[in-house]
Amino acid sequence: MHYTLAQAEEMDRKDPLASFRNRFIIPENEGRKLVYFLGNSLGLQPVNASAYMERVMKDWSTLGVESFFQAEEPWMHYHDKLTGTLSRIVGAKPQEVVVMNQLTVNLHLLLVSFYRPSGKRFKIICEAKAFPSDQYAFETHVRHHGFNPDEAVIEVSPREGEFTLRTEDILDTIRLHADETALVLFGGINYYTGQLFDIEAITKAAQAAGAVAGFDLAHAAGNVPLQLHDWGTDFACWCSYKYLNSGPGAIGGAFIHEKHHQANLPRFAGWWGYDMHNRFKMEKGFVPMPGAEGWQLSTPAVLLYAAHRAALEIVQDAGWDRIQDKRMHLNSFLWDLLEELDLETGGEKIRFITPADPAARGCQVSMLMLKNGKSVYNKLMEEGFIVDWREPDVIRFAPVALYNTYTEVWRFVTRLRELLEAESV
Ligand SMILES: Cc1ncc(COP(=O)(O)O)c(C=O)c1O
Repeated sequence: MHYTLAQAEEMDRKDPLASFRNRFIIPENEGRKLVYFLGNSLGLQPVNASAYMERVMKDWSTLGVESFFQAEEPWMHYHDKLTGTLSRIVGAKPQEVVVMNQLTVNLHLLLVSFYRPSGKRFKIICEAKAFPSDQYAFETHVRHHGFNPDEAVIEVSPREGEFTLRTEDILDTIRLHADETALVLFGGINYYTGQLFDIEAITKAAQAAGAVAGFDLAHAAGNVPLQLHDWGTDFACWCSYKYLNSGPGAIGGAFIHEKHHQANLPRFAGWWGYDMHNRFKMEKGFVPMPGAEGWQLSTPAVLLYAAHRAALEIVQDAGWDRIQDKRMHLNSFLWDLLEELDLETGGEKIRFITPADPAARGCQVSMLMLKNGKSVYNKLMEEGFIVDWREPDVIRFAPVALYNTYTEVWRFVTRLRELLEAESV
């Protein structure tokens, strides 16, 4: 069935979250709003972000360092404005979540605590073609413990002719290496394919094998529903500049399950992780804050907190469940249109890398371009459809619930169809 533009417009009119688009600054070119489908890369700027950052600048200019305690919103407690909504998004208790650093830094800090090879249990199981930072983190931690990455890092690959991993293959690999695995660490969603892994099943299999289960949620946090606490996941970390819309180089986040809070795990410590009641006594001997905050290192990046707060407030106002409802609807509308387009073009122009199963994907679609891929991409970009190109021949795009519309999705697929049908682009 062909959807018409009028039908897409009607969906937008009925969309209960339609007004939330106005809480973001939509980029324009010569007065025309761009169709921005790169929330998987850098989410758009919340309208309030500047004002919240300005307020911090004002405090700084009027109160200086006294702002930590004397500002109307004291910087000392600013992070309390973040962890509530964030813990809802990742399915955690507030004390299991901390806002700090950036993703790669947090990944290293968590590996210090959670990759604890002992005896013959020293291997890390991960997805093949994990994001490079993850690969480098595994490689360097493994070497740091005196092992050879070729031996210690086990990558699970797709089967011949397939693009994504089968859960059964991940679980079988964990079982096969049960005695020698120290850590299982996957992306929540693979950055290239858009595949959402079964975090609960992987967590359970890793723990049944006697290993620790961790996740890099860069592409999952703020995108799909997560239940890290209930799933029993040991740890996770994420960035906030993608689906969490908190700006370039935004402050990252980490989850440490409460079952680990009393254990006084080994860690690399800094003064901001020290018990806050005695932190300013500046004494020798590290005493961590209880909970995830005990992994903090440095003075809080209050300006980054301010941008993060603006973005999280939008999530709070829209309601996480309602955001998820719209994500599902918008995404299935997109897939209906794309699958129809694929049929019409005889399966010869595009091929989907992202799983067709809605339970195994989030907002992102990765599409292999079988003909004229780069020229189609260039043309889309010229015309204001902002998507990205990954060598050798993949276009990635991710309409998101908070600021994309059904009409944008319809216009995008309609234009894509025209470009694919043209003899030359
Ligand atoms: C899956 C994944 N992991 C890690 C990173 C690196 O994050 P950062 O540069 O914030 O450390 C990214 C960045 O896009 C990513 O997509």
